[in-house]
Amino acid sequence: MEGRVVLSELEDTVRVPSVDTQADARERDIERILISEQEIADKLRELGEQITRDYQGREPLLIGVLKGAFMLMADLSRHIRLPVEVDFMAVASYGAATKTSGVVRILKDLDHDLEGRDVLLVEDIVDSGLTLNYLLKNLRGRRPASLEVCALLKKTGIQRVHLDVKYVGFEIPPDFVVGYGLDFAERFRNVPYVGLLRPEAYRDL
Ligand code: IMP
Ligand code: MG
Repeated sequence: MEGRVVLSELEDTVRVPSVDTQADARERDIERILISEQEIADKLRELGEQITRDYQGREPLLIGVLKGAFMLMADLSRHIRLPVEVDFMAVASYGAATKTSGVVRILKDLDHDLEGRDVLLVEDIVDSGLTLNYLLKNLRGRRPASLEVCALLKKTGIQRVHLDVKYVGFEIPPDFVVGYGLDFAERFRNVPYVGLLRPEAYRDL
């Protein structure tokens, strides 16, 4: 029928604001979205498929680094079509809120024995790389059959140590980001995308 717009067609072309995309109280301090929910979802599907292919016939152990990787672990693991086991480790790096010192304290250790396992470490972000470097050394000492890393984000060109990160979601500029597990002073972890903070937010908190 000419001139008549079918609602389902309209929904395809016009982005109808949903509860998810409306600004809400948790988003007050976010200046802009760097990586959208959809971009993250698409990337995790792709990484999940790649990991599924690479680990065919094996049963990897996914190790999430808390707290930053909690959301990534939940979403990524659903795209890995293999029998996997999941474990978590909690670490804290000494240092100021937005800078790492490279000295890592293990707050919660693993439940699993790593000997002979195919271990995939799931990390939120590789910044200086010092935390990851420490963790890899620590885990390698437990004699896994293999040890690889999947990080959602990697800041470009600022790693202070050489690291092989096999699976990287997004390379980003070396700015401080929040959301999708990442915090500033423990806030913003539940923001469903990765965003940049308003500079004032650092001062206010
Ligand atoms: P790294 O040791 O410098 O690589 O970073 C250690 C940890 O600092 C990461 O696992 C994050 O938890 C945190 N971190 C680094 N950069 C950011 C950021 O831009 N936003 C939020 N947390 C970050
Ligand atoms: Mg943090």
